Amino acid sequence: MAINHLIIAVDGPAGSGKSTLARKIADILGMEYIDTGAMYRALTLKVIEEGIDPTDEDDVLGLLEETTITYENNYIYLDGLEVDKKIRENIINKHVSDIAKIEGVRIKMVELQRELARSDNVIMDGRDIGTVVLPDANFKFFIVASVEERARRRYRELVDRGEPDITYQGILQGIKDRDRLDSTRQVAPLYKSPDAYEIDTTSKTVDESVTEILNIIRGGK
Ligand code: DC
Repeated sequence: MAINHLIIAVDGPAGSGKSTLARKIADILGMEYIDTGAMYRALTLKVIEEGIDPTDEDDVLGLLEETTITYENNYIYLDGLEVDKKIRENIINKHVSDIAKIEGVRIKMVELQRELARSDNVIMDGRDIGTVVLPDANFKFFIVASVEERARRRYRELVDRGEPDITYQGILQGIKDRDRLDSTRQVAPLYKSPDAYEIDTTSKTVDESVTEILNIIRGGK
């Protein structure tokens, strides 16, 4: 079956491997890759830099009014400045769920994400892509891995980047907290769409998971 405008939704919890897989699939299939977590992270960065309380919804929404978040050539820009590296710091991990649960924030981000998916073939990753943002996607994948494995991946990532004061136990607890907040929030909680393929990456290499996904897309499954 030929598809003129290919849309692939990839969802899953923190550290499941969704961004790594989505990026690779995008490269292989020549599609645009859009990391929606980066948008929530960018707003979180601004909230922290401006000294605003991340749990104060009115203040956060006021700040969002005067913020521009754009996504160009796989890089995220906050008010015109590229912030790709800064948004991966652990301080952002700690506060991003508070920002992502605010309904007004989500409405604006979803609008932006749908706009990005309108013209190109895109693979978009996040928490609510298959359920809310792009429910008509041609393919939906829900990426999972054990919480211990996800914490190990995040720990290695942060240590490799030279972040100070990182412990495995601290990261594990942070991931558990974020899982709980992302899955129990009122608006667009994380859950697997019934028509999504579940991919468990716990004991697979990246290439094995990529092959599994490509086989499904190419109809080989
Ligand atoms: O995928 P990530 O770890 O970069 O996402 C950061 C946070 O943003 C995550 O804790 C939940 C939130 N998020 C969301 O609520 N909806 C999305 N579509 C993407 C991310």
